[in-house]
Amino acid sequence: MAKARAVLAYSGGLDTSVMVRWLIEEKGFEVIAMAGDVGQTRQDLEYIRQKAVDIGAHECLVIDMREEFVSDFLTKALAANALYENKYPLVSALSRPILAKHLVEVAAEYNAQYVVHGCTGKGNDQVRFEVSATTLDPDLQVLAPLREWDLLTREQEMQWAAARGIPVPTTVSQPYSIDDNIWGRTIECGILEDPWVEPPEDIYELTQAPDKGPDDPQYIVVGFDAGVPCSLDGLPMSFYDIIVQLNEIGGRHGYGRIDMIENRLVGLKSREIYETPGALALIEAHKALEDMTLERDLLHYKLSVEHVWATQVYYGHWYSPLKQALDAFIASTQPAVTGEVRLKFHKGTCLTVGRRSDYSLYDYSLATYGEQDSFDRTAAKGFIDIFGLAVKTWARQQRKLGL
Ligand code: ARG
Repeated sequence: MAKARAVLAYSGGLDTSVMVRWLIEEKGFEVIAMAGDVGQTRQDLEYIRQKAVDIGAHECLVIDMREEFVSDFLTKALAANALYENKYPLVSALSRPILAKHLVEVAAEYNAQYVVHGCTGKGNDQVRFEVSATTLDPDLQVLAPLREWDLLTREQEMQWAAARGIPVPTTVSQPYSIDDNIWGRTIECGILEDPWVEPPEDIYELTQAPDKGPDDPQYIVVGFDAGVPCSLDGLPMSFYDIIVQLNEIGGRHGYGRIDMIENRLVGLKSREIYETPGALALIEAHKALEDMTLERDLLHYKLSVEHVWATQVYYGHWYSPLKQALDAFIASTQPAVTGEVRLKFHKGTCLTVGRRSDYSLYDYSLATYGEQDSFDRTAAKGFIDIFGLAVKTWARQQRKLGL
């Protein structure tokens, strides 16, 4: 009888490498490994492909997901100005659903009944993989070996691997848990678990220390077309390349570090460090353009929608009906978000210092206190009388009650 097949979300690191063999030995699976390129650094994808095959994978697919990640995931995240708990631009929460989508596709293509991930049992990522995969195909089975295997310590895991000729890291393993993609970099664990301790400087890779940034500020003009970044300093550029550039520019000026205590979905608080210069600069610029181009009530309502959107996505509900309905609302707000925003980077800051749009709702003659003022001040008195009427009436009632 043919062996059951499993598709493994494979990163090339120790855990998922060991998992390739473990699934073969302990579960009797034929393993298809799948690695996704979402713009992460430090990876020789051909090397990790060969490594999976050498360990025993039937096949290892390396899929370039960068374009799709930007067009289908980051475009929506930016339109939503997505920041979980008003701070975290959802770096890992955005990559899990695209990886899950491809896992499900590969499972269908290879007629596999199982998908497997290498997430731990106390994080958010396990939820995101599993909820995404089973929303896309409710008949799939999901396995999470890290929740069940008995290779409890890293030493045990390395011994198990070494005994089978699986390459193990030779350098002293770094004490942090790191995830990254084009939208930013996440750092957890080790000394960072003490929330009072300042993060050591050597954990950062994308950003310079703010005080080490250049003495001169740098100005950059970001162009948007219907909410999507489309140029830098007037030069047409892909959204992907704009992120690459802003990661570099922001990072050089020490911009984009986040140090926060975050509420995980599984109920605990954790201390998280992020470096996301490009994402934060783009959200800053995108918001600034929305301030100019979205009607007041729409803008206010959208702020509350953004909060729900970010929470849904953080909770692994990328493919949920609520999240999709919110996407439709948010998309309907974006056609006028076209124009340019001037950003100023300096010593850890990124400020909006200018914005312009053909669809601007900012009307100089209404706003000015100068000669060209066209605002009808005489109408203000009647407006205020009626606008304040309900609370004025209530105030008289309160006085009667002696309150
Ligand atoms: N706390 C962040 C989140 O839940 C980062 C997770 C990083 N994942 C990882 N496997 N290191 O999105």
